[in-house]
Amino acid sequence: MGSGFSNFLVAPPEDVIRFTVGQPDFVTSEAIRQTAIDELQAGNTFYTRSAGDLSLCSALAEWLDEKFSIKTDSEQIVITPGCKQALFYGFLGLGNPGDEVLLLAPAWPSYASMVKHLSMVPVDVPVNMNGFHPDMGALEEAVTEKSKFLVINSPNNPTGAVYTKEEVEALVAFACEHDLWILDDMIYATMTWGDSTYTSPSTVPGGQDRTMTIGGWSKAWAMTGWRLGYITGPEIAMKAIRLCQSNTASHAPTFLMPAARTALSDEERRLEMERSFAERRSVILKELETIPQIKFWEPEGAFYVMIDISGTGMDSIEFAERAMSEAKVQLIPCSLMPYGEGMCRISYATDMDNIIEGCSRLRDWLTGLQSA
Ligand SMILES: Cc1ncc(COP(=O)(O)O)c(C=O)c1O
Repeated sequence: MGSGFSNFLVAPPEDVIRFTVGQPDFVTSEAIRQTAIDELQAGNTFYTRSAGDLSLCSALAEWLDEKFSIKTDSEQIVITPGCKQALFYGFLGLGNPGDEVLLLAPAWPSYASMVKHLSMVPVDVPVNMNGFHPDMGALEEAVTEKSKFLVINSPNNPTGAVYTKEEVEALVAFACEHDLWILDDMIYATMTWGDSTYTSPSTVPGGQDRTMTIGGWSKAWAMTGWRLGYITGPEIAMKAIRLCQSNTASHAPTFLMPAARTALSDEERRLEMERSFAERRSVILKELETIPQIKFWEPEGAFYVMIDISGTGMDSIEFAERAMSEAKVQLIPCSLMPYGEGMCRISYATDMDNIIEGCSRLRDWLTGLQSA
């Protein structure tokens, strides 16, 4: 099934700068934590509605509409133990063994892993490597009678690309033509930079009936350890999704759901963290500019930067391994993902001092190699 990034996510010795971890380095806000504590103290510890606390579902339906014009209904939402579980339900509930799943590659490795786990077939379709936006020609070449899903992840992990409205329209038109379900992993939707904005495929013509919107609290509210996510889509699909949840997790933890509701209204803290990521992004881009041996693409969203290391003469595994042992910087080698060779992923969800020190180590290491 593959282990994704896990070998490169192992906690390194203390003197190593970690550019690998895909989670905000902030502790969840005080208000959110306090809600969970209060709920526990009040004894909110029993089984509850399988699809999730109805008042949370209502608040989420409003939030999705207000932020992204996604139209859904509280009865058509399932609150899941994390976005990952919601994605798994999407594949499990709507797919069958042998179905093909179109992934825009390089793609987050967990998709292929989940798909294989369910005896379905991941089909990696390369994006346009100059900026990582969809290549419709490549998709047309890859689609077959067996294709059942198109996974969209914008803002994207690992590439940082955010697809334009026109691109999302083209992807939806393609899904309509080939009768595909769209799994829209929009977990980074609030984190877009510059003029880029997230467009939900459910909001463009033809999208509403075939899009499963899948997200969660992990990234935007720094709640990775809480395991809270969601999935919503057309009622015909949600019937299957509800069965997946009731037969597995039953529901997300009862006393955590009111805290998730607090998060939705805790705009100030969310925006503060976003401003911090935006600042870190501009600092890391300036730092990377001073390393002539590598190129990079300006990320449009999320907290990742792809660097092109092909000019160093190393492949991405060698680069990552030597960066770790010689420069004491941990990065993800993107050859772990199809179409990722020649690149490494940096996560800048780490503090400013680490960003500056990590880049300086990479610069000194690569300069030293050149003059050796
Ligand atoms: C693209 C993408 N989707 C989903 C997830 C998982 O989110 P969660 O922690 O809610 O399961 C991640 C986490 O790294 C991710 O990068």
